[in-house]
Amino acid sequence: MNYFECRNGELWAEDVRVSELAEKYGTPLYIYSTKTLKRHYRAFDKALTGVDHLTCFSVKANSNVGLLRLLGGYGAGMDIVSGGELYRALAAGVDPQKIVFSGVGKQDHEIKEALDADILMFNVESTQELERIGAIAGQMNTVARVSIRINPDVDPKTHPYISTGLKKNKFGLDMLEATGVYSMAKHHPALDPVGLDCHIGSQLTQISPFAEALEKLLDFADQLKSSGIDIRYLDLGGGLGITYNEESPPLPEDLGRAIMDTLAGRQLTVILEPGRAIAGNAGILVTRVIYTKKTPAKHFVIVDAGMNDLVRPSLYQAFHRIGEVIPKGREKLSMDVVGPICESGDFLAQDRMLPTVQPGELLAVFSAGAYGFTMSSQYNSRLRAAEVIVDGDKTILARRRETYQDLIALET
Ligand code: LLP
Repeated sequence: MNYFECRNGELWAEDVRVSELAEKYGTPLYIYSTKTLKRHYRAFDKALTGVDHLTCFSVKANSNVGLLRLLGGYGAGMDIVSGGELYRALAAGVDPQKIVFSGVGKQDHEIKEALDADILMFNVESTQELERIGAIAGQMNTVARVSIRINPDVDPKTHPYISTGLKKNKFGLDMLEATGVYSMAKHHPALDPVGLDCHIGSQLTQISPFAEALEKLLDFADQLKSSGIDIRYLDLGGGLGITYNEESPPLPEDLGRAIMDTLAGRQLTVILEPGRAIAGNAGILVTRVIYTKKTPAKHFVIVDAGMNDLVRPSLYQAFHRIGEVIPKGREKLSMDVVGPICESGDFLAQDRMLPTVQPGELLAVFSAGAYGFTMSSQYNSRLRAAEVIVDGDKTILARRRETYQDLIALET
């Protein structure tokens, strides 16, 4: 459920007309809804009522500092994967004791920055990484809290690019190797193995892969306990899917129930790292039609947002619902909605039944709040879009549109 609705014949973002925002801030424009974000965050928080838990928003899904500040204000922690994301989370005022650091390639300077900030823990993905964190923490006379990311070899049944918990993926360690790594961590003076972690993939539309991974992790936690390692945090990663089209993914409460049922009686703090499920349907991308064009093969609608603004359709053949901002009730035709970029892969939709539109009219691309702006680029020297956050009838410009000066500002 989200707060982008058609009212009085046009699309609104909460209590603001989308057409008004497009006039004021220009297009392409990302619009985020505060009420939707809050609702989604709260759904996770509520789902785990009764067990100690922490919901760490996955910053890679949407790293706008204004949006992070809102989530931090509701009590969210953050899941980060780089020094840059740490910087953003701290700039947004997020409590470092609620930050977990994931990713297979943490560099020395990033490890140091995270230790300086005193984050909650590192989710470690290899033996070499553990050794590196231990060495750096030792030099800094501090102790790094770590959890080891297990690769549970579970099929998340999602797009291959976003499956991460299969044996062939680069993520995590298998349990056999992890046992040795925990033992190393336990005996290292600058390391404290406090947690156990996994993340099996993204846009999961079933509970069973989560449940399977959880069972495997708990069995492993029992093994660790018998060798004297008592973990306190169980991080189950992110991955809960959203409705882009006709999917009906489980709700946070379904995931919560599955976790609580399996966890019963254990003294563990559960960490979740949702990204898409919080931000995905809290954002839309608004774009203006530049031209329409009919070729012998197809109808094309050429809009001012391209694959540089929203790459998901091009990269994953992902479906994003598209609709008119001010519906005109015209006949529907099968068409391709494409951007201005010089690549045939530059499309937002292909062979989609949509009402005919005219130059100057506005379209909304839905479910664009996660992995939208964060995956955008300046390809074709296009200026990255502006981002606004709506709260009721108020709007703030959370990131201004880039300028031509911004394009070359770093070039010498
Ligand atoms: N935790 C870890 C360690 C992750 O790698 C990810 C996502 C998440 C949490 C958050 O997953 P979520 O709840 O958002 O599914 N660009 C792709 C998605 C890549 C996801 C990468 N990792 C897309 O647009 O579909």
